[in-house]
Parts: sequence; structure tokens; C-alpha cells
Amino acid sequence: MERKIIFITGSSGGIGKETAKTLAKQGNTVIVHGPTKELAETACKEIKSETGNQKIDYVYADFFSLADIKRMANELKKKYERLDVLINNAGAMFGTERETTIDGNEKTFALNLFAPFLLSQLLLEVLVKSPAARIINVSSSAHSLSGILNLNDIQLENNYTFGTAYGQSKLYLIWVTQHLATELKEKGLAHITVNSLHPGMVKTAFGQNAKKGFLIDFLLKLSRPFSRKPKQGAETAIYLATSKDVENVTGKYFSDKKITNPSEKFYTKKNEKIIWDYCMQITKPYLEKFTN
Ligand SMILES: NC(=O)c1ccc[n+]([C@@H]2O[C@H](COP(=O)([O-])OP(=O)(O)OC[C@H]3O[C@@H](n4cnc5c(N)ncnc54)[C@H](OP(=O)(O)O)[C@@H]3O)[C@@H](O)[C@H]2O)c1
Repeated sequence: MERKIIFITGSSGGIGKETAKTLAKQGNTVIVHGPTKELAETACKEIKSETGNQKIDYVYADFFSLADIKRMANELKKKYERLDVLINNAGAMFGTERETTIDGNEKTFALNLFAPFLLSQLLLEVLVKSPAARIINVSSSAHSLSGILNLNDIQLENNYTFGTAYGQSKLYLIWVTQHLATELKEKGLAHITVNSLHPGMVKTAFGQNAKKGFLIDFLLKLSRPFSRKPKQGAETAIYLATSKDVENVTGKYFSDKKITNPSEKFYTKKNEKIIWDYCMQITKPYLEKFTN
């Protein structure tokens, strides 16, 4: 099997760490990411000792800061001339109170949408050097439970609930995946594919980081015995990163390693473009002009 250079965000724990372990076992160069140096370094050491693969590296960045994402991307670009796979896996659902980041963005949208959007843009420079690069965005089937969209209040300043923020951030991630796929084709960069996926309901730290009210906390606990193990949750991302079956597949949404139709409830080409332009506007101070 040909070896790849693979970068996985949010691989200090959960599905991301399992994804990293399997890809490391296959002999790939794997770059691990966590929100702090300590978390990323610990995961890196664990993966090295468990898999015997010494080509494991780590970077860190707090995705609540667009500047920190850019610093990390610059570090990666200095160290690696080429990147074959970018797995935008880091993501979370937050609590009942709406909170914002240092950039003034609502936390769920910052982590689940703006971070993968910015990172994909900044790393195009090294992805383009791969003979066949793949961007994989970890979304969720919860995108179909997104509540009513208000594209005049994308970050839910007025009607925030954690479920709406989570569902909409994952819906918009699917839309920007589709849009980027079209843009890459139009720019003659069809050798970079970009797809999104739902990993299944997986037993990780997901949903445990903030209080969501008694009923939701109870339901989340209740669902845990029926959830998949992180290793199973990693399967679709691993498939998209390595399988020949999806070599030229782009702009699609996958579940259980199969192309699946995402919710079409609010989808229009115009809405997709509104979200794309909005992400561009939010990340603009940190974007670089990409010349191939
Ligand atoms: N678990 C599920 O049932 C499920 C279902 C559908 C979709 N998903 C999606 O799958 C992806 C992985 O989730 P998971 O279940 O593996 O969750 P997890 O165990 O909570 O892992 C999330 C990863 O993201 C990192 N992260 C969190 N906040 C961050 C920040 N501010 N900056 C940088 N990194 C940050 C975490 O770091 P630390 O924890 O090390 O601090 C961790 O490495 C997410 O995108 C999630 O939305 C999960």
C-alpha cells in the first residue's frame, strides 16, 4: 500500500485518536493535533508506542482562535512540503449558554465550521503538491436536526440553543464541502477531493464537556451503551482517507462508507453560496492568496 502524509485534527482523543492509530498501523506518516501541546504530545507518544510507527508527529492549536490556527498551519507548511490527507475531525457540542471566542465567534461555529474552513484554505498550498490529495470533513447526521435557518443571524445571536448551533454548524460544513469541491474542479485542481461524513453515534468524550440540562444529559448517558466504539466510529474516515474506491469522488457526504444524501430541507445553491461567502468573510484576515 502506498504511504501517505496524513494530518488529523482533534486526534488527542475520541474518534480522531482511533483514526490516527489505524492509519499509523498502516505505516503512514501521521500528524496528530490537540488543543494544547501537552494533549497533542501525549497522544503522539501513545500512538508511537502502541503502533511501533515512529513517523508520528504532532502540532497543537486552540481552534477557538483563528490566529492560533494560522500559526499552526504555518508550522505545518514549514515542516511538510506535501500533504496527502487532511481530516478535519475536531468538533464538539457546547452548553445551554451561548459563548463566544476571542474572535467574537460563537464557539460551536468557531470549532465545527470556521476552523475546518480556514485550515482547508491555508493547507491547499501543501495539498496541491500531492499527486492525489483528500480533504475529509467530519460532519454529523445531526445536520438534519438543524432547526429553522436564519441566514441573517448565522451565529444565532438571538435564538441560540446548543442543538441548533451543533446541527447548523454541521449542515453548513456539508455545504462548504460541496462548494469547495466545485471550486477545486473549476480551478483545475480536481486532484484534490473533498468529502464529508457522519461517523455514527460513538462513545467518546463527545457531549460531556458542558451541561445541557438534566433531560439531555440523561438521554446522552442513556444512549452510551448503544453507541459504537471509537474504533468503529473511525472506519468511514479511514475509508475516505485510503480507499481506491473513492479516488475521484468529491463533494459527497458519507455514512458507513457509503454515499448518502444529506438533508435537502434548506438546501439551495444560493444558501450554499451565502454560507461560503460568510466563512470567507469571517476568516478573511487570516487567509492567504492561494496561487497554484
Ligand atoms: N461521538 C459521536 O457520537 C459523534 C457523532 C457525530 C459526529 N461526531 C463528530 O466527530 C468528531 C469527533 O468527535 P469525538 O466524538 O471524537 O469527540 P471528542 O472525543 O470530544 O474529541 C474531539 C476532539 O476535538 C478536540 N477539540 C475540542 N475542542 C477543541 C478546540 N477548541 N481546539 C482544538 N481542538 C479541540 C478534542 O481535544 P481534547 O478532548 O483532547 O481536549 C478532541 O481531540 C466531531 O467533529 C464530532 O462533532 C461525533
